[in-house]
Amino acid sequence: MLQIERLNESNVIGAAELEKSNFSNPWSVEALSAEINNPDALYLVVKDVSETGEESVIAMAGLIISYDTADVANVSVSEKYRRQNIAYDLLTKLMDEGRQIGVKDFTLEVRENNAPARNLYEKLGFKYEGTRPKFYTNPVEGAAIYWLRTKEV
Ligand SMILES: CC(C)(COP(=O)(O)OP(=O)(O)OC[C@H]1O[C@@H](n2cnc3c(N)ncnc32)[C@H](O)[C@@H]1OP(=O)(O)O)[C@@H](O)C(=O)NCCC(=O)NCCS
Repeated sequence: MLQIERLNESNVIGAAELEKSNFSNPWSVEALSAEINNPDALYLVVKDVSETGEESVIAMAGLIISYDTADVANVSVSEKYRRQNIAYDLLTKLMDEGRQIGVKDFTLEVRENNAPARNLYEKLGFKYEGTRPKFYTNPVEGAAIYWLRTKEV
């Protein structure tokens, strides 16, 4: 059974393992732990809880909030759980929670060749606004910048 909860001390190790399996420059347990009590961060994880009570973190996404703008970060879903709308539903919930605490605009960057993620963000309504060349390392790659704005410009 899938359950969504805040990133916390009991799931942060699983969240870091998920990072490691999905990214070439993963966030460490320490880096993720710093977000647990960060008043400007809102992180959600999805756990799969088995009938015997075993839990594994299978998805995560976060917001780093600055006034009424949030950076969407650390979006990932464990490989065997992909293509089940888990990322879409998680981001929809995360952004709803962000709006409830005053976020109006969302932005993110994504490796320009990461078609699955770009499709996901476009399906959520994000608009591509440009590329920052050589933004990423390991391997070097440009970042496509996206925005989802809800306030008047
Ligand atoms: C990108 C990622 C988070 C998507 O997670 P997911 O749970 O499989 O995505 P969803 O099932 O919610 O898919 C929602 C939409 O995303 C797009 N999408 C997801 N996976 C895709 C794929 N492999 N190819 C093309 N489009 C894809 C589609 O538009 C999809 O909508 P559809 O099913 O109606 O076509 C997942 O592939 C992942 O963790 N990748 C590795 C980490 C990563 O790249 N994170 C993003 C960093 S910016």
